[in-house]
Amino acid sequence: MTTGIGTAVIGYGYWGVNLTRNVGAASSTELIGVCDPDESRRELAISKHPGIKTWSTLDEVLNDESVKAVVLATPASTHFSLGMQVLEADRHLMVEKPLAETVEHAEMLNNEADARSLVLMVGHTFLYSAPVHHLKGWIDSGELGNVTYLYSQRLSLGRIRRDTNALWNFAPHDISIMNYLLGETPAQVTAKGFSFIQQGIDDVCFASLTYPSGIGANLHVSWIDPRKTRLMTVVGDEKMAIFNDVSADQPLWMVDSGVARSEGLGEYESLGDFQWRTRAGDILVPRIQMSEPLLSEIDAFGQAATHGTAVPTDGRHGLEVVKVLTAIQESAQQNGRPVDIEETQLKLDAPGTTSTGQIAA
Ligand SMILES: NC(=O)c1ccc[n+]([C@@H]2O[C@H](COP(=O)([O-])OP(=O)(O)OC[C@H]3O[C@@H](n4cnc5c(N)ncnc54)[C@H](O)[C@@H]3O)[C@@H](O)[C@H]2O)c1
Repeated sequence: MTTGIGTAVIGYGYWGVNLTRNVGAASSTELIGVCDPDESRRELAISKHPGIKTWSTLDEVLNDESVKAVVLATPASTHFSLGMQVLEADRHLMVEKPLAETVEHAEMLNNEADARSLVLMVGHTFLYSAPVHHLKGWIDSGELGNVTYLYSQRLSLGRIRRDTNALWNFAPHDISIMNYLLGETPAQVTAKGFSFIQQGIDDVCFASLTYPSGIGANLHVSWIDPRKTRLMTVVGDEKMAIFNDVSADQPLWMVDSGVARSEGLGEYESLGDFQWRTRAGDILVPRIQMSEPLLSEIDAFGQAATHGTAVPTDGRHGLEVVKVLTAIQESAQQNGRPVDIEETQLKLDAPGTTSTGQIAA
């Protein structure tokens, strides 16, 4: 009988519980144990997974030879330092989103993984979701026509964090999905952020992204909203699509609606109607074989670490998302100034600094 690659989960908080369950369930990974400095969390892990090891520090984990791969589910502020420690100990690494809090740190993690031929993967879970794959199929096959714009809302009431803002907490998902759907990364962003609860930590962010192809995208994230919303709308010049992740049985709709020239579409009533008429048609709700995205994600990590298979959420994908988050943050801090994504890169390459951001000797 073959077993999966020996894997440890670092951080057994809200999300670590889900990741650990799936590391135990995936055929390509074997759950060796869980690390958390909080004793009550370690006890909880043992109660759910009897027989696993527990550790209170990452050093102890990395001294365990049976651990070949690590899933990092600690707060975002620790991703870089703990992630670097994992890579330097020659272990494959999956980091929860965001990959890191700065472009420089995301670059350094990528470089370290490349230099050691290790897998670096980011927990952008939605790229393992069946409705997102289905939507990508519609876009790539031209079913929607040419995509004209898209927008995403990720809203809820609660799980207000102290260590990161709503943008960095939620928007990695939206940006990662949008980049994947369009097959490109934004060229420019402009954004506004608003903080109400904790000074200096935005609870709400509105951002507009412009892709090199000219497609416009908008995102709205908030953790002080009356309704839990996970909605992405993609408008094509022939059809439109809605991905509603809150709906368990009908997550994806294709709406056969659009705007067309009035020729051949019947009588017109006003001068405006003479030129353009809206067309409201049928809605298609495809039957989608649902699977747990997190299980597919962990399985992809195990496969990549064992066989070197490619993953859609590798370190480079994570880096691109961090660049966009950084640009949005910068624009929000400067009252909506348009920020080119290249600017985040230029800072790294600025004269007098090394690629690690240190002042050159
Ligand atoms: N992919 C998703 O959909 C998704 C959803 C929720 C959270 N997340 C991500 O998961 C990560 C954790 O979020 P959470 O909501 O579970 O947070 P959390 O605060 O509930 O849990 C974090 C855990 O990490 C532990 N921890 C802190 N420092 C540690 C260290 N040095 N070594 C080991 N353990 C340590 C804490 O004790 C805590 O148990 C974040 O990066 C977050 O962005 C991802």
